[in-house]
Amino acid sequence: MSSAVINRLDYQEPAFRVENINLVFNLDPVTTTVYNTMRIEPLTDSDHDLVLNGSELELASVFENGSPLSTERYTVTPEALIIRGIRQKTTITIYNKFHPQANTLLSGIYMSNGNFMSQCESEGFRRITYFPDHPDMLTRFHVEIRADKEQYPILLSNGNLIEQGDLDNGRHFAIWEDPSLKPCYLFALVAGKLVKREEVYKLANGKDCLLQVWVEPQNADKTEHTMECIKRAIHWDETRWGLEYDLDRFMLVATDDFNFGAMENKGLNIFNTRYVLATPKMATDLDYFNIESVVGHEYFHNWTGDRVTLRDWFQLTLKEGLTVFRDQEFSRDMLGKSAVIKRIMDVRALRSRQFPEDAGPMAHPIRPESYRQINNFYTMTVYEKGAEIYRMLQTMLGKEGFKKGLSLYIERNDGRAATCEDFINAMAEANGRDLKQFFLWYSQAGTPRVQVKTYWDPEASTYTIVASQSTPATPGQPVKHPFVIPIAVGLVDSEGHDIPLQLEGETAPLGTTRVLELKDEENEWTFVNVGSRPVPSLLRDFSAPVILDYAYTRDELAFLARNDADPFNRWDAMNRLMLGVLEDMTDVIEMGGKPEADHNLLSSFEQILTDETLTPAFRAITLQLPAENLIGEPRAVIDPDAIRKARTELKAAIGRRYSSLLFKLAESYETPGDYSPDSESAGRRSLKNLAYDYLITGGNPKALIALRGQFEKANNLTDKLAALTSVVNSASPAKTNMLVEAAKEWQGNPILINKWLTVQASAGTQPGEADTLTRVRQLMDCGAFSIKNPNNVYALILAFCNNEPEFHRKDGKGYEFWLQILRELCSVNEYVAARVARTLDHWKRYTPDRAQMMYRVLNEAKHIPGLPVGVQEILDKSLG
Ligand code: PHE
Ligand code: ZN
Repeated sequence: MSSAVINRLDYQEPAFRVENINLVFNLDPVTTTVYNTMRIEPLTDSDHDLVLNGSELELASVFENGSPLSTERYTVTPEALIIRGIRQKTTITIYNKFHPQANTLLSGIYMSNGNFMSQCESEGFRRITYFPDHPDMLTRFHVEIRADKEQYPILLSNGNLIEQGDLDNGRHFAIWEDPSLKPCYLFALVAGKLVKREEVYKLANGKDCLLQVWVEPQNADKTEHTMECIKRAIHWDETRWGLEYDLDRFMLVATDDFNFGAMENKGLNIFNTRYVLATPKMATDLDYFNIESVVGHEYFHNWTGDRVTLRDWFQLTLKEGLTVFRDQEFSRDMLGKSAVIKRIMDVRALRSRQFPEDAGPMAHPIRPESYRQINNFYTMTVYEKGAEIYRMLQTMLGKEGFKKGLSLYIERNDGRAATCEDFINAMAEANGRDLKQFFLWYSQAGTPRVQVKTYWDPEASTYTIVASQSTPATPGQPVKHPFVIPIAVGLVDSEGHDIPLQLEGETAPLGTTRVLELKDEENEWTFVNVGSRPVPSLLRDFSAPVILDYAYTRDELAFLARNDADPFNRWDAMNRLMLGVLEDMTDVIEMGGKPEADHNLLSSFEQILTDETLTPAFRAITLQLPAENLIGEPRAVIDPDAIRKARTELKAAIGRRYSSLLFKLAESYETPGDYSPDSESAGRRSLKNLAYDYLITGGNPKALIALRGQFEKANNLTDKLAALTSVVNSASPAKTNMLVEAAKEWQGNPILINKWLTVQASAGTQPGEADTLTRVRQLMDCGAFSIKNPNNVYALILAFCNNEPEFHRKDGKGYEFWLQILRELCSVNEYVAARVARTLDHWKRYTPDRAQMMYRVLNEAKHIPGLPVGVQEILDKSLG
């Protein structure tokens, strides 16, 4: 792996085209051999060398037009095979080997529970064979797989199955041909003992499409939900965007060993099992929901990613931001009247994970300018902030305008490798709009702050909104230009009704929500016929990824939480209210005082809790306290102990104060009968479990009894896991038995065991108990944990690193643990290592004693022998 910095502006057009590639695999877990025949065509007259990337490959031989290539014509390096003197169309054949079983990076072809799996994005194909491994190198794939028939009865690759049959020595073969032009990062190969659920589905164009979900035999009964999600995704893409599926079959394969969530390989998506398998007893409501969005996401990539692909990896947000936007819209549409819940969850994730990234040492624009390891740029910024950029366009251009732009973009770029400019140009042209300034969202990092001031003039009956923007400097970008920021605004009168909005100069009011475009450092707008002082509802539906500063009083927030016609802003008002109170309480604790809960907050809490006009799902999400890292974010110095204490105290205060109300509510929101993950039942469960959680935090013994009963009797994982989590986070010794029970019931199911690990890694340490770190270390040796399995690492190690007070313990033992794990992971899986490395990138924000210790381990980590460049990149930026 080269350690050089790669710059976006250094992009060069390919000098060769690969007309087609023919691959013959002889699969063997120890050593697999590949015959790779490519038809190569030079594209320029100049004397370019053909650079075929290769990594950790053994080259056996090279042929040109059927004859051995003389050794003077080529050079082999650890990173490439370079062939000189190709002046005309030439057939190059390469015979090489690699070692699937030794592949713990899970990039290229690797083994998972005895099956062969592949993962090629971003640069995994070069770990399979020599090829120009860049996303702009589109070609046609013809693939023959040979393997032992008994061990590997199922042989899959992209496209259409052309032929299969038996060979000598108990081996068999299958030939797959993909009619589509694709870059090699979308190549996939799967071989092993797998079983399928299949269905023939009629596409909107009348064609039949074969849908298959492939899993290991023990999981045969857990794929019904996934199949339903595939059909919903196909149908939604047809109806919402007019985009149809283009192959005769669509396959999805699940594996336990996977670095990310899932992968959109053409016609053969490969998924982490956690986004495939679902039964009532092994998946929570949220899991069911997330499976739908990930299945949708990968399916939607077929157009935004596969048919139209990327020119280079800097354009990543062109497929990822756009496809996240598409999957968000899909999930929202599937929720029907609870749609806002999805928006709330997405914004919550953006604020708690992307905003800190944008404010820290790793800050980068959604289209980065440089990288050392592209794998470090599969970030919340590229994905989630990227999605917000597409959403803003839809907000500004309207749904129809956006759809027109997307159609034009696809029409023009189908079968091509595109850039972000191609997208924006299509949007601009289809809508007759100049989007030059808007394009700054692609190049400038950092979260803009929008400060709003309002003036009501009772004499003139006018209401003026003045908005100004500023974006803090980020690494490498000291000065920022003003963005285009769509601010959706409503004005709420004292009765709680929206005022019809008429801007100065308009002849009549037009609607009750207006999208104001802030383009300069400061702009103002004046509404007329505003006879009484309204409360402004700003940034409705979170119309832009910015931090909004407006000096709301707590009364105003309480008022909006009760009245705003925009359900997102109702949630947001309550959230701001809670955050403000938690900030105050944390201050008091840091000063050594005893904090008290705010009365305004308590009464708003009660109002929302008992408001039967709101869905249970909405009440539950609105009454959840903000996460600890959100409380820490605005603070000058983060003291995780004080924050947890404040949050727990507030929870306990609410639990005590409203105990009878919460109890009654919890009992009345039972969901009797068979389990169903539909949004209404899920909402009831989440309100009930929220109520119990407040109660048990308030020390209510009846809640403990109820939760133990729920844990024993639940017919679904949502209730069971909620009960376990609440009890584990309480002081009750009942947790020990419950954890043993859960382990007995869940053992053998990796997805459930991971949840079991996470519950324990995320728990606080109660007086008299072993501390969380000690338990995490024990769990690493419990037999259910392997450092080679990314899901295990995320479930136990990353969960612990995000458990703020326990990880950031004052004695620094958490940081020593971090260093030890990082060291181990560097030689197992550098991608997973880099994710663990990132958990210290905000070290400067913490109390000085902690910051100093983090600084020390970050420096020590730089001396890990064989430190991978990707991890080095994170460490350098964190320290820099
Ligand atoms: N492209 C995958 C997705 O849609 C993510 C991924 C990247 C998976 C790299 C594996 C490796 O989100
Ligand atoms: Zn994606």
